Amino acid sequence: MAKKGSVLVVDDEEIMRDVLETLLSAEGYRVELAKTGEEGLETYGRRPFDVVLLDVSMPGMGGLRALEEILKTDAEAVVVMITAYATFDTAIGAWERGAFGCVRKPFQNELILSTVAAGIKRRRKEEERQNLRRAMSRSVERGSIIVRSEKMQAVFQLVDQVAPARSTVLITGESGTGKELIARSLHMQSPRAARPFVTVNSSNIPSELLESELFGHTRGAFTGAVAAKRGLFEVADGGSIFLDEIGEIPPETQSRLLRVIQEREFLPLGDTVPRKVDVRIIAATNIDLKEAVRQGTFREDLYYRLAVVPLELPPLRERREDILPLAQHFIRKYNEENSREVSDQLAPDVLALLEQYTWPGNVRELENVMERAVVIAPGREVTRQCLPADITDPQKSFGGALSAAGAGTVDLSRGINFYDEVRRFEIDLIRRALDQTGGHQSRAARLLGMNATTLNSKIKTYNIQLRP
Ligand SMILES: Nc1ncnc2c1ncn2[C@@H]1O[C@H](COP(=O)(O)OP(=O)(O)OP(=O)(O)O)[C@@H](O)[C@H]1O
Ligand SMILES: [Mg+2]
Repeated sequence: MAKKGSVLVVDDEEIMRDVLETLLSAEGYRVELAKTGEEGLETYGRRPFDVVLLDVSMPGMGGLRALEEILKTDAEAVVVMITAYATFDTAIGAWERGAFGCVRKPFQNELILSTVAAGIKRRRKEEERQNLRRAMSRSVERGSIIVRSEKMQAVFQLVDQVAPARSTVLITGESGTGKELIARSLHMQSPRAARPFVTVNSSNIPSELLESELFGHTRGAFTGAVAAKRGLFEVADGGSIFLDEIGEIPPETQSRLLRVIQEREFLPLGDTVPRKVDVRIIAATNIDLKEAVRQGTFREDLYYRLAVVPLELPPLRERREDILPLAQHFIRKYNEENSREVSDQLAPDVLALLEQYTWPGNVRELENVMERAVVIAPGREVTRQCLPADITDPQKSFGGALSAAGAGTVDLSRGINFYDEVRRFEIDLIRRALDQTGGHQSRAARLLGMNATTLNSKIKTYNIQLRP
């Protein structure tokens, strides 16, 4: 766009178009011409202009109709009517319909230039107001997301940049780093915000059901399909679909997903008529997908289709500046939920402990720790007694306890059965991970750095009872 601004001239008389083009280009405006109201409307629809000079009497739809139509596509459009019959009535009529001004033919060049300049000024002010409004609504939406560290600010800059587009986004990061939160915020900042945001957690749906969940099915498509069902892709039409734990998707489903991304259409199970959809895909994973590609468990072509915009969330231990504002945010949140009034000002020793800890469970772990602290705080302060032993006594933490209870405790003097010992150790680890996550298998798998399906098969093999 030219620095000075852009002007669209709509007039059926060639001489008028020539005169205005020469005059305005000489002033440094970018000028485009249209011969009829219809043509002007089409040009404006392709790209808005700062100011429109619109002749009132033209064959076809005419200036006043064109004015109304332009304002329908852009309520802030600055339109100046030009008329040979500038009676008081036409001027008032144009005003009432929302024109910025009215200039009479034959006109003084000066009057045209000053009117256009005033129009551009108005346009810029309006743009500023809109930017401000947008920035404000962003900061409100971001109100519950803490973005203090430079690393997180960089992530959000990228979110701002890609939100308006339809490009597929792949969010990676350890468990609890905020992948789902970012996915939602991406959707809320996109033009799709008013349309659905549909979450699919591939690791919680048995793989036999995943395809019918995603793509839907016809009645009788398989045993048990007693009624037709809409797939989640169809439910998300116009909005975004969040494919969580994308690394867990079985190979057949991977191929079908690739097809949806490439063709923007899919076939419900048992159906022959493909469905067209307009859905933005946001995927997330906490496994190293590139490694999965190398190992042949994840399709390379799908990986590249998904990772058009890769968004990497750093673990909390690599952005310790976020720990304090996050802890304070969670204190306020859980004060409200529990009607407590615990101070969000942390004592130096408590803060030091929080900042030193490694946070293997990232923000989710910090959130749990703060929730518990708010609930058990004896007075109005979070004291070190409110924190779990992992944090106050890192020696005894999960990792430390593991090595202590590990191979070192096995008495080798009389020989052992290696495989029995390994199995005992495995069972012990799995039990503890399940205890920590309240029996949630996919979370336990994450704690153990293990595939959820592997964990599930180990639980079955070893017949590990889930505690209620
Ligand atoms: N920057 C942040 N500001 C405020 N809250 C956050 C932030 N990051 C994460 N949280 C909170 O931490 C919790 C975990 O976040 P989320 O569920 O998005 O993580 P995740 O990366 O999807 O984890 P997982 O891989 O285990 O599914 C949520 O309650 C979320 O609201
Ligand atoms: Mg998640």
